[in-house]
Amino acid sequence: MRIQIHYIILMMLVGVGLLNCTRGDSSKHTGSVKYQQYYVQGEELYKSYCANCHQLDGSGLGRVYPPLSKSDFIEQNFEEVICIIKYGRSGELWVNGTMYNQPMKGNPALTDLEVAEIATYIYNTWNTQRGIVEVGEVTPILAGCAEK
Ligand code: HEC
Repeated sequence: MRIQIHYIILMMLVGVGLLNCTRGDSSKHTGSVKYQQYYVQGEELYKSYCANCHQLDGSGLGRVYPPLSKSDFIEQNFEEVICIIKYGRSGELWVNGTMYNQPMKGNPALTDLEVAEIATYIYNTWNTQRGIVEVGEVTPILAGCAEK
């Protein structure tokens, strides 16, 4: 009798687990093939477009290049980060209590998909596991930054 009850409870737990996986936005699931593709492409793009300055491990370089790993700026400014990847930035910038002030050139040749892939990489490697950053999310943001 005891064993049976344990078995029933176990099956209920498994059931809830399965439901959680199938419910909700499955594309955000970091196990999905699409996520893996974005992430792997994003890593390659990061190496060629960003690592020179921000370093492979995202730690930045002294007072010159701000870190991308554990950056409070990245955590708090998703839309601006999308814009920076493509259009760059200049002026004072605070990251984790340190001020940086050195212009970053943009990468206007990047497609919306490439920006989404880079964002997927930086938002899932060192910072909160945000899940996939979809190209559909990035396109309207990029259209907005051109106006700034
Ligand atoms: C030539 C060096 C250089 C390259 C290459 C470069 N950056 Fe930057 N990046 C900077 C500098 C300098 C700043 C600070 C800008 C400022 O002071 O306004 C910055 C700022 C940032 C920030 C905001 C601050 C932070 O650390 O959270 C992000 C995000 C960022 N860069 C991401 C990228 C990504 C992604 C790429 C590749 C697509 C890239 N950068 C390529 C130099 C660079």
